[in-house]
Amino acid sequence: MKIAVLKERWPNETRVAASPETVKKFCGLGAEVSVEKAAGKGASIPDAAFKEAGASIAATAKAALKGADVVLKVRRPMIDGESEDELANFTKGQVLCCQINALTDAAFVDAMAKAGVTGFAMELMPRISRAQSMDILSSQSNLAGYKSVLDAATEFGRAFPMMMTAAGTIPPARVFVMGVGVAGLQAIATARRLGAIVSATDVRPATKEQVESLGATFVAVEDDEFAQAQTAGGYAKEMSDGYKAKQADLIAETIAKQDIVICTALIPGRPAPRLVDEDMLKSMKPGSVVIDLAVEAGGNCAGSTPGKIVTKHGVKIVGHINVPGRIAEDASKLFAKNLLNFLTPMIDEETKSLKIDLEDEVVSGTLVTRDGKIVHPFLTEQDKSTEDAGDAADDDDKTEDAKAESATDDNADATDAKAKGD
Ligand code: NAI
Repeated sequence: MKIAVLKERWPNETRVAASPETVKKFCGLGAEVSVEKAAGKGASIPDAAFKEAGASIAATAKAALKGADVVLKVRRPMIDGESEDELANFTKGQVLCCQINALTDAAFVDAMAKAGVTGFAMELMPRISRAQSMDILSSQSNLAGYKSVLDAATEFGRAFPMMMTAAGTIPPARVFVMGVGVAGLQAIATARRLGAIVSATDVRPATKEQVESLGATFVAVEDDEFAQAQTAGGYAKEMSDGYKAKQADLIAETIAKQDIVICTALIPGRPAPRLVDEDMLKSMKPGSVVIDLAVEAGGNCAGSTPGKIVTKHGVKIVGHINVPGRIAEDASKLFAKNLLNFLTPMIDEETKSLKIDLEDEVVSGTLVTRDGKIVHPFLTEQDKSTEDAGDAADDDDKTEDAKAESATDDNADATDAKAKGD
């Protein structure tokens, strides 16, 4: 069995889908690994390190792909009409594992089906405990949360911790984290480690305890709607206009006292909720910093611009894109490990070849195209019962709380999961 690891070609993509560690593991499982020349450059992994781990180095993508059974990438290959047609080098039956954004990128999914490529969209990994080690959204969000705080510290003209010096006392910075999912929790922990006074908000009640356990203060409108704001799958629901108005008042009051705001709030399949408006920005002290990790989904903060740092009312609004790519070495290492954990159970110990178990929910949850067809239930016109069956299969892994949620919530979750594209 041959595995190809290709160089990323999208602008700003610094990561690579393999690490020397995963190459070594794949070789140990009996696979041959071919890494395209300079694939690890953006992540500071030289070709020599891949070679030492057991890979061969291919001069071109075409050479790496020749005879490959499995292809590993971070982002999906480019297609005809984009700056380079990477998909043209693939052959029928090859298995592609990468972030596809399959639910929102119909053009690519169609092209992949036409090319006869078996495509696994890693972002669709079911959120079950067994699949945690394969979840690219989690591994990458975690690092994005960490990096967002360091980016804030870089842009901020003051220190984070309280410092008592002979020349006077420096007060600690106040950091407010909006959205307490994987990225938000890591942002809280990182800001606390740097000595800031941290508070955080989310619409999911489960986050209150998590925030407090990290030594931060929880800020939220805790009404009846808040008590119901989490889907069975653990994602946020879109809140009513009434809730949003109450939330905005509380946020306005809180934000005026902050130095740093880290925005991470997302709703699967919908634009990111707008949480920080112009008036709130005006109320902040000059020199304050807003980091908008949701900028690629439309942004949580007024004025945030993808790929830019803009200053409004004296507040710096940071809209870096591909934040995991700003910490490419570790992001690649974890992404690569996610792929290794996903593929290992599919490599037959005796024959050393790929054996895909279509009954496995980790496989069926991520498999998008096969044998020239689009096969994922969220993308085909299959009736609702298919989704319900999928939900029922998930039940074993759901928490007791989630299990207690109503069937209506389960259906809403299927819709949310269906819509979740990035
Ligand atoms: P996400 O990236 O979809 O959203 C980030 C956060 O924004 C969420 O906490 C969400 O509640 C919050 N949010 C949405 N609208 C908001 C609003 N109007 N105001 C304030 N906050 C708002 O979420 P993420 O990070 O992907 O995690 C969601 C949940 O999934 C978490 O509970 C996490 O622990 C769980 N999870 C489970 C996994 C597994 O079991 N395999 C793997 C990864 C995450």
